[in-house]
Amino acid sequence: MRVVVNAAVSADGKLSTRHREQVAISGAEDFARVDRLRADGDAVVVGVGTVLADDPHLTLDDGDLRADREDRGDPPNPARVVADSRARTPPDARIVDDAARTYLLVADAAPGDRVADLEANPTVEVIRAGEDRVDLPVALDRLEAEGVEQLMVEGGGELIFSLFAEGLVDDLSVFVGPTVIGGREAPTLADGEGFVDPEAFPELRLTDTERIDGGIVLHWTVAEG
Ligand SMILES: NC(=O)c1ccc[n+]([C@@H]2O[C@H](COP(=O)([O-])OP(=O)(O)OC[C@H]3O[C@@H](n4cnc5c(N)ncnc54)[C@H](OP(=O)(O)O)[C@@H]3O)[C@@H](O)[C@H]2O)c1
Repeated sequence: MRVVVNAAVSADGKLSTRHREQVAISGAEDFARVDRLRADGDAVVVGVGTVLADDPHLTLDDGDLRADREDRGDPPNPARVVADSRARTPPDARIVDDAARTYLLVADAAPGDRVADLEANPTVEVIRAGEDRVDLPVALDRLEAEGVEQLMVEGGGELIFSLFAEGLVDDLSVFVGPTVIGGREAPTLADGEGFVDPEAFPELRLTDTERIDGGIVLHWTVAEG
């Protein structure tokens, strides 16, 4: 499976403000780029923190991209995936509507009633992996067995850090926007516990850059460990 992380950050590396509400960092050109990247993948994953903060839909905006997918025998939208150890995704969240299939990655610790409420939705399929927290290598293997060959990661910072820490990321695209958000509590591209040992820092190679929306997209690939 190829794992492609995409995010938009301010010039100081923040994904959002300290209030963790959704803010526009990029513009129309970047939205179109993200739509194309989504269309290239089999599934798009976010952490439950992003679901609770932004209530994203994670479907394709551009009807032509949906039609192209259908022409090649794929569903019009990629599947949606939430890393949600305790099944905190609200049953009325947009990510579990009927626009596409949704895989809910939960841990054994997830309360059975919340899992059952979400599983009652015909578009939702639950994948259990891990005891207290979603075991990402196991969960991604399960997704691969479901036919997910390219997985796009759309945040947030907790999930992105875990994927790097597990050595699961292949590519990273970051739009760096022309603004400063600041705030030591504001989420950044990679939060979690962070690496301490420089030997553990993932090594990235810059493969391309694009100037759009008054900022720049940096395309990186992760060097083999
Ligand atoms: N600018 C952008 O491109 C962009 C994109 C996305 C989000 N955002 C912003 O980012 C913020 C949300 O980011 P966030 O970092 O708070 O949340 P997040 O990464 O979306 O979700 C984190 C949650 O995912 C769950 N999770 C399950 N398994 C995990 C694992 N193995 N490793 C890590 N997390 C796991 C954890 O909750 P459980 O333990 O309950 O499972 C964790 O608290 C919001 O402010 C949103 O607006 C910005």
